[in-house]
Amino acid sequence: MPTASTTDRLSQARETLGSVGQGHVLSFVDQLDEAATERLLSEVEAIDWNRLAKLIESHVKHKPEFKLPESIEPVPTYPSTPTAELKDKYKKSRELGEQLIREGKVAAFTVAGGQGTRLGWPGPKGAYPATPIRKLPLFACMAEYLRKVEKKYGTACRWYIMTSPANDADTRAFFKDHGYLGLAPDQVVFFPQGMLPAIDTTTGKVLMASQSGLALSPNGHGGSLQALYASGAIDDMKQRGIEQISYTQVDNPLVKVIDPVFIGLHAMDNCGMSSKMLPKAFPKEKLGNFCLVDGRVTVIEYSDLPDELTEQRLDNGQLRFNAGSIAIHMMRVDFVESLNTAPGGFALPYHRAEKKVTCLDTTTGKLIEPQSPNAVKLETFVFDALPLCERSIVYETQREEEFAPIKNATGVDSPETSAQLQTQRAAKWLERCGVAVPRDEQGDPQAVIEISQLKAIEPDDLSGNGASLPASIEAGTEVLL
Ligand code: UD1
Repeated sequence: MPTASTTDRLSQARETLGSVGQGHVLSFVDQLDEAATERLLSEVEAIDWNRLAKLIESHVKHKPEFKLPESIEPVPTYPSTPTAELKDKYKKSRELGEQLIREGKVAAFTVAGGQGTRLGWPGPKGAYPATPIRKLPLFACMAEYLRKVEKKYGTACRWYIMTSPANDADTRAFFKDHGYLGLAPDQVVFFPQGMLPAIDTTTGKVLMASQSGLALSPNGHGGSLQALYASGAIDDMKQRGIEQISYTQVDNPLVKVIDPVFIGLHAMDNCGMSSKMLPKAFPKEKLGNFCLVDGRVTVIEYSDLPDELTEQRLDNGQLRFNAGSIAIHMMRVDFVESLNTAPGGFALPYHRAEKKVTCLDTTTGKLIEPQSPNAVKLETFVFDALPLCERSIVYETQREEEFAPIKNATGVDSPETSAQLQTQRAAKWLERCGVAVPRDEQGDPQAVIEISQLKAIEPDDLSGNGASLPASIEAGTEVLL
């Protein structure tokens, strides 16, 4: 028998759901035990149904059309290697970045709430074995990076990790079981992001995964800007004097979790949110395009930029729109806070994705396995916050230095390509220090090399005091440093 408070909650839920035409969510509630009823009620209560009803109208029953802005210009960028005029600014930026790190004003933030569907890995993606020799999990790569930052600058950076309700417990257990990867347990802060139900494309009804559960999925990495605030992480940062957030994704073992030059450039130019970019390898590479729209930095999805602009080249042959987004950002804490306290509330636009979602037929109670997309998932994207800030810089980075993502099980951006890229970076760093690395005719290293980030997070760390490096690497070997 439901308790009194469950009865009250149930009647409230009936009223709310009925008023937005989603009463079917409670079709089986009379057959559920108390625990299952509670579970369903908690899911229902976590959703703003009036807001969802508006979104269903605008994004499911109607397909929002992307309107290409009238004025789109390429974005000016800071080059990865400073020009003569920028040398001094880069030096000062690095000093400023290092000072902010030392003063404990910078936090690391990893978004790890995604479902990792393409990789087919059952656990949290951060637990995926990523490095070529030690098979170090992605989270451990980042933890080593942070341990080295602490060693270099004498301050432990706080690490915020956004999970989702689906992987939160497993992520926390992973850290606990692995001794917090050598970090202090209270240095790492976990919080889950919000979820939204998938919506039936034809009827606009929310889908159920079971009699007691909605077909929920994470609300996109844009949800991180909301979850940072709602979870209390922003308050925690303010209390600790943290002013800047270094935002990275969980899928890239080469990512510079904390990058003094980027931090410094962003802080010196007094930006709300800034980004790193890669020059695109080819016009239609699947990276969002950094552009200037009405003078503001904006990302236009590769699928939304017309071919004529995608293919346009400058006189020197370079793509006119060549700045691809790799989802690495700096954000000021007060900028993230302002997004959440603005009149009218948090307002990143929603994107619609059509997906196949297994769901319950609420008339028969049977599960449906669709053969083609049957549902719309709604997500917000973090880069849509860029045009909301007055000042924003874009800083170029080098692919081989910091982009080896693991997204797919095979082929492009797979564990195999990532391991090759990790070896390539290690080879390049060793060569800079005078180590002879054997290479084949294509220029690829003929050995597998892994450098622990406890040892080096940039090439100069390798040539520093007491670094013992071999004179050469033997072809066909595995070398762990
Ligand atoms: C993303 C970017 C793409 C960029 C690429 C770089 C978008 C739409 N695309 O693509 O422009 O070139 O990264 O690697 O952003 N995540 C959450 N919660 C969510 C959804 C995702 O935390 O609800 C996290 C994932 O755990 C992951 C990251 O966001 O760390 C990227 O998510 P994913 O959906 O895989 O984006 P990509 O398609 O890889």
